[in-house]
This record gives sequence, C-alpha cells and structure tokens, in this order.
Amino acid sequence: MSKFHQKEVDRRRTFGIISHPDAGKTTLTEKLLLFGGAIQMAGAVKARKAARHATSDWMAMEQERGISVTSSVMKFNYRNFEVNLLDTPGHQDFSEDTYRVLTAVDSALMVIDSAKGVETQTRKLMEVCRMRNTPIITFINKLDREGLSPLDLLSDIEETLQVECAPLSWPIGMGKRFKGTYNLYRKQLTLFTPGQETRPEDAVVINDLADPRVDELLGSQADELREDIELLEGAANPFDLEHYLKGNQTPVFFGSAINNFGVQEMLDAFVELAPAPLSRETTSREVSPYEEAFSGFVFKINRGMKLRHHRIGKDVSVSNATIFMAQDRTNVEEAYAGDIIGVHNHGTIKIGDTFTIKEPLKFTGIPSFAPEHFRRVRLKNPLKTKQLEKGLIQLAEEGAVQLFRPLINTDYILGAVGVLQFDVIMSRLKAEYGVDAIYEGIDYATARWIGCGDKKKLEEFERKNQGNLAMDAEGNLSYLASSEWRLGHTAEQWPDIAFHKTREHN
Ligand code: G4P
Repeated sequence: MSKFHQKEVDRRRTFGIISHPDAGKTTLTEKLLLFGGAIQMAGAVKARKAARHATSDWMAMEQERGISVTSSVMKFNYRNFEVNLLDTPGHQDFSEDTYRVLTAVDSALMVIDSAKGVETQTRKLMEVCRMRNTPIITFINKLDREGLSPLDLLSDIEETLQVECAPLSWPIGMGKRFKGTYNLYRKQLTLFTPGQETRPEDAVVINDLADPRVDELLGSQADELREDIELLEGAANPFDLEHYLKGNQTPVFFGSAINNFGVQEMLDAFVELAPAPLSRETTSREVSPYEEAFSGFVFKINRGMKLRHHRIGKDVSVSNATIFMAQDRTNVEEAYAGDIIGVHNHGTIKIGDTFTIKEPLKFTGIPSFAPEHFRRVRLKNPLKTKQLEKGLIQLAEEGAVQLFRPLINTDYILGAVGVLQFDVIMSRLKAEYGVDAIYEGIDYATARWIGCGDKKKLEEFERKNQGNLAMDAEGNLSYLASSEWRLGHTAEQWPDIAFHKTREHN
C-alpha cells in the first residue's frame, strides 16, 4: 500500500450526530460546515429545517423529504482532515435509517440540551452506539440559557447512558451569568459575549487559576470557577484516550451552538481524538481500511436513486444532484475507507449488501432493529393482494419498513421505528405498485427475533405462543408483544429462548 493511500485513510473522520429533536443538531451542523468552509451548504441545512417547520401539508412534506432523506452525507475539510458527517434523520424523519446510519460511522457526536439532559431519542441512538462500542464526544448545548447544573448533567449522562464522562471544558455560569468556558487540558479561558462569535484564538491562557487576571476577567464568578475546578480535580474522571476509543468514556464539551461558542474547541478535539476509518468484520475475515481493493456495504437506500414505477412501467429518476448535497458527488473518481458513495439501484440492492472488486465478502453489523410501531395493512381492493405482497416485500428489502406475517392468519403487519415510515410506505404502495390500502391499528408495541438451539424447546415455545409469533420478510421467526412488560414476562418464562433486539441480514 502506498504512503499516499495510508495518509488519505488516516485523515478521514466519518461520524454522525446523535441527539433528540431541538437539542441543536442543525445549528451545530451549520457551524461545523462553516468551519469547513462550506458556507452554501450551511445555508441549505437551515433552509431544509425551515421547510420542515413551515409545512404540515403531506405533498409538500414529501417534496421536502426528497431533499432531507437523500442528503445523507455532508463532506467537508477541516485543517488537514476530511470529515464525512452522515445525516441522522430526526424529528418526523426518525426511522430505522437513523439507526442504520450509525452502523456506518466510526464515531459519533452527542448533542445534549443543557436544560433537558438526556432525552429519549438520544437514549435510543446511544443503544446502537453501545452495541458497536462507538466512541462518542459530547457537546452540551445552550449554555446561554438557564439549564441543569453541569454536574447534574454529567451524572445524568453517566447514569442514563452508562458511559463515563470526562469533562474537557467547564462552563462558567449559565444563562445570563454565562461567562464562558475553561478548557481543563489546555488551561485556557474562553470568554463569552452574547451575540458575538468567539474563536479559540480569543482564548486566554491561564497557567494558574490563582492568577489575579482570572478575577479581572470573571469578577465574582472567578471563585466559583476555582471551586468547581478544585472539585473536578478530585471527583471527575481524567480523560483517557483508550477508554474513549472503546466507547466507555465520553469527553464532554460545553457551549452554545447558536453563538458558535465552544464549537471549534470541540471540533479541534474531535479531529484529533476521533478514530480514522476502522477495520470491519465480515463473515470470513476482517477487512482493513488500508486495503487497496474496493469493498463497501449498503447502509441506506435513498429514494433519490432510480426507482421503477411499476404501474406505468417506467423508471422514475430523482435528480442525482440531490443525493449528496455536500458536493457534486455524482462522478466520484476515487474513494477511500470511510467515504460514502452512491450507486444506482434498480430494485436489486438490499440493505446490508456488500460490494467488492472480486472476493466474496459479507460485512456484518448492519442489522435490522426491533420496531416499536405497528400497523395492519388492509387492501381496499382484494384483487390486488399479489401487488401488495410484492410491494411490501420489496419495500421491506429496501429497509423502508419491516414486514411480518403472523403464524395464525394471513395479515400483513408492518413494523417501524418511526411512524412517518408508515406514511411513506402508503404513498409508495400507491405510486409504485398501484395498490390502494389502509392501515388499522394493532396492539403491538415491540418485537424480538427468536433464537434457540434446542429444537424441542423452540417447538414448544411456538406452540404456546402462536398468537404472538410472525415471520419477517426474510423468514425469521419473530415475537410480537403488546408491551415491554409482556415481552419481559415471556422472556422470563422461557429462559432457553433468545429474544434478539437486532437481526443481521441473510
Ligand atoms: P435540532 O436540529 O436538534 O432539532 O435543533 P436546532 O438546531 O434546529 O435547534 C433547535 C432550537 O434551539 C432552535 O430554535 C435553535 O435556534 C435553538 N438553539 C440551538 N442552539 C442553541 C444555543 O446554543 N442556545 C440557544 N439559546 N438556542 C439554541 P428555534 O426557535 O426552534 O428555531 P429558530 O427559529 O431559532 O431556527
């Protein structure tokens, strides 16, 4: 392998943002893109978000989804690093895609609203990161507003997410009293002026907090900072690169995305600490990021690719340019480990598929995730059963939704991680398969894939739980339950049966 190749791989950082809606992901993304010099793109992120807020009309939302769903990677350069920021759709767009994006990243950035602490969506996304021991850097946002105390925020993260926190910066006051942050490792004070964007060059180096300059700069809050830092020295975990890279510890920064405060400090740490593209497991061997021969896996299928409009027998093509908003990436000439490329799909590509030059490989770790929302599909015209089945199977293969067929009847049950997936399926069934259907509610709230090495036990389990069992689109036995409690109860009763929350693709 050439030195050049190795350098290209080593300077790449491929990551995604995990956060709950409104924590500040869009705002932070914009600031990151600005540091990367991608000014036009930053505007586009905002416009996209505005469009989302402005509309409740389905058609408009669809149109707008055409952009938001397809703009899956933002590429920018920062210092000598090439950063790939993978979009993790939130808000109404929250779906299995959001989870799956996290199977393609080498690290993640967690954004927390200082007034809210850890919220549900963050918790769910963090579960996916935990499965893969993804290293995570935390940015606690909105320090310009009143929020929880920094210590409470750290213990909330540690307790709720089971990850050790190592603060790398520390806030001085908050809300109206927010004076800035103190970088514990660089021993630098960065002062905050509302409405004025601050850069690390404006930081004041403070070798000793006893320095009277600290009092000049912070007034009565100087002693508060000294006390906090003294407390931290005794109580906080020191940063440990190994722990971070294993996903056991998260370095924490405080700031305010909208004021661009603390963002570059975090970005600097990110490019230095976050891992370059990592090795990947396949069913036969580990693939090194430095291998010259191309290999890649499918983690997302965009609607922006060519789609077959079966009823009218034509291919419908959504403009290539919208596939990757970052740059004109339609003609990618070279790509290195960690890069995301788009290929046309004519209905043959499935989530989890592997592409290689020659060697047959199958990457692992791109699973399906247990759905949390369910609907029963009812046809308006019973003569269309064949089309419905074909459509649902294809959409399930594409990863747009999960399909379950109960053992005891001929229902079609759809499962999703985000409810908007259902609307998308309905409109696509109509447009692409000519099927008119409606949804009925169904009393399921969770699902697990069943595994058991003991054939006898499995048969007994199947016999006694028929009413809750279904086959997914790939023929795997699944258990559907009306509540987490029910699921837990059943799992307790059947200790020899494994209830899996994720499933690898065949
Ligand atoms: P999201 O993508 O995670 O959903 O969050 P987004 O960036 O859209 O931010 C959600 C709201 O929080 C926005 O306000 C945004 O301006 C605000 N916000 C982001 N960062 C900060 C911060 O550091 N401090 C404060 N005080 N607010 C912040 P909005 O009113 O919903 O939208 P907008 O009209 O301001 O765009």
